[in-house]
Amino acid sequence: MRLRFMAIVLFSVFFQSSFSQTDNAVEKRIQKLIKKMTLKEKVGMLHGNSKFYTEEIKHLGIPEWALSDGPHGVRAEMNRHNWKYTGQTNDSSTCFPPGTAMAASWNLELAKQRGIVLGEEARFRKKDVLLGPGINIIRSPLCGRNFEYLSEDPFLISQLSINYIQALQTKDVAACVKHFVANNQEENRFVVDVNMSERALREIYLPGFKSSIVDAGALGVMGAYNKFRGEYCTENDYLGRTLLRNEFNFKGVYMSDWDAVHSTEKATLAGLDLEMGTEKENYNDWYFADPLIKAVKEGRIKESVVNEKVANILRVMIKTKVLDPQTRITGSLNTKEHQQAAYRSAVESVVLLKNEKKTLPLNMSALKSVAIIGDNATRTHCGGGFSSEIKALYEITPLQAITNKYGKSMQINFAQGYEKQSHVVERSSDGQLNTDKVDWKLIDEAVAQAKKSDIAIVFAGLNHDFDSESFDRLHMRLPYGQETLIQEVAKANPKTIVVIIAGSPLELAGIESRVPALVWGWYGGMEAGNAVVDVLSGKEFPSGKLPFTIPVTLSQSPAHALGAYPGHDLKVNYDEDILVGYRWFDTKEIEPQYPFGYGLSYTSFEISNVVTDKKVYGVNDEITVKFNIKNTGKTNGAEVVQLYAGQTKASVLRPKKELKAFDKIFLAPGEQKTVDLKVKVKDLAFYDEKTSGWKIESGEFILYTATSAKNIMSTLAVTVQ
Ligand code: BGC
Repeated sequence: MRLRFMAIVLFSVFFQSSFSQTDNAVEKRIQKLIKKMTLKEKVGMLHGNSKFYTEEIKHLGIPEWALSDGPHGVRAEMNRHNWKYTGQTNDSSTCFPPGTAMAASWNLELAKQRGIVLGEEARFRKKDVLLGPGINIIRSPLCGRNFEYLSEDPFLISQLSINYIQALQTKDVAACVKHFVANNQEENRFVVDVNMSERALREIYLPGFKSSIVDAGALGVMGAYNKFRGEYCTENDYLGRTLLRNEFNFKGVYMSDWDAVHSTEKATLAGLDLEMGTEKENYNDWYFADPLIKAVKEGRIKESVVNEKVANILRVMIKTKVLDPQTRITGSLNTKEHQQAAYRSAVESVVLLKNEKKTLPLNMSALKSVAIIGDNATRTHCGGGFSSEIKALYEITPLQAITNKYGKSMQINFAQGYEKQSHVVERSSDGQLNTDKVDWKLIDEAVAQAKKSDIAIVFAGLNHDFDSESFDRLHMRLPYGQETLIQEVAKANPKTIVVIIAGSPLELAGIESRVPALVWGWYGGMEAGNAVVDVLSGKEFPSGKLPFTIPVTLSQSPAHALGAYPGHDLKVNYDEDILVGYRWFDTKEIEPQYPFGYGLSYTSFEISNVVTDKKVYGVNDEITVKFNIKNTGKTNGAEVVQLYAGQTKASVLRPKKELKAFDKIFLAPGEQKTVDLKVKVKDLAFYDEKTSGWKIESGEFILYTATSAKNIMSTLAVTVQ
């Protein structure tokens, strides 16, 4: 893994420097093209002429620019002028498990593979920009888009994002990292004004964007819908100019989220290049269309500002070979390799939360019957979630997978268990939410199936009526009376295994203690059923780790504990500041249901001889933590080793510890490896608001070698001078 990581770093250096060698030629070419354009032609490139395209300039050989969602697959074709799908039959594609599942694999190689596959499929479908990855911080368990995002931790997000973006862009497709910035809730997303300290911005909310741009060279950034410190993101000078252009030296395209522009002059001057997505009939009425031409003609906006934007777009077009189609990658779609990559991604995302008395893996050849219970056993999910929905070539559900694989050797007793009801919030006369109703008829049927089967597997959780763009959940409990269902099934059959299919934290206390085995299966993409069934059967082993904390109750979670979600009067203050996710739970010593970074294995590991290369470090040094890890069990497995660091005494409040490095180590039974985890001393700094810069204080730091935020294998003190 480390070697692979090195290779990625080298590759990234090459990737960036190969660009810089040609930079002069590219800039000359851009200027030559701009000189030949009329103002109308220029402005035509700065706004959509339909849902996902911008205008071509035929006589200059500039084709229309094709943008497409989304983060975990290439979205099906939509009509140009409305949100309906065209219904054509050649636009199905490979569907990966969404963001949180990718993050749960903690495998950078898989993030890279995903980038490559998506790049190839995007090219085959003639797309120039893929609108993703979505990397907003998971701040509240309720955010509807958590499933699309990656994690509550900025370091994990950055590492995954760098690998995904670099790989995608090798396929002549631009990534568009989104949503810049602080789109951490869907509730009031179009208008909510997010306020946070500069320190929280720098330490938590910005690093993913910064590394996507600076380290991975992302060619696109999407401005979020919400306001940031009183101004819409798309017209926020601090975000667009100070941070993106000046600090990050971003030379790519800064586009709006769909219909997120609210002004011509302000947004133009704030650095936005491209206005996308509006419901207006006449595309010339858009802020970056005729009103922009008018503003230039009236001298309110200099034409050079328009030229800058056109140059940014042309630069991305040139780098992705849009203007040199004969040399461009043509791509491929729905290959076996792509499907295999989706399968691996799903397998490695599966998190084993509980496995009492080695209930799992199941001995399939010894089982005569199994009860498969729950709506999520038969529900497909790729086609849900709004803009990230994918028309998957196929999607294997858990019931299909188990039937295909074991239908001949055992009796499969299916019961619906609970019914998916509308997410529309309606209360019945007893005040209950309609999605919380318990259906005793379905429960009785499930109990009957569980009773007559050797074991029961309940596929529970959420679906895209909950994990979805544009609204948040109302609570963190399992909907549709599933808690009651699981309790009753577990009473009927003590060998009940629960598999949670969801992309956001859920309250598990009501079921965790009642079943011997609990698995988090995520939305698994097109290979969901195959992956989860193969992990249950032991054909594959579980190796995922939670990319977010699962609180016992919502009120434990920082934003909720402080009443800082979803805000008041359309304003939300991030009062928890830098204490997001495990940083809060650790520092405040709150016991969650399951900690960040947690996940069990079918085998066991021993970590020993943990040492640092030195005891005292200078500011420019790099710390190496070295240790041995051995698979002490009887089966293959992988452990995600995590290095956290914390400062013992600081002049400001610091989280108890923060993730600084990780690696996923695959080991055969008895096998031992020596692992190095490295952290630069300067990455132990905090953002000092007094000096508006990063500060590293001398003194003691503790390095925690761990297998989750709570499972610490070793603590070592070092001194920074
Ligand atoms: C979403 C974006 C998406 C865009 C285009 C918006 O509603 O917020 O993430 O890329 O639509 O579908």
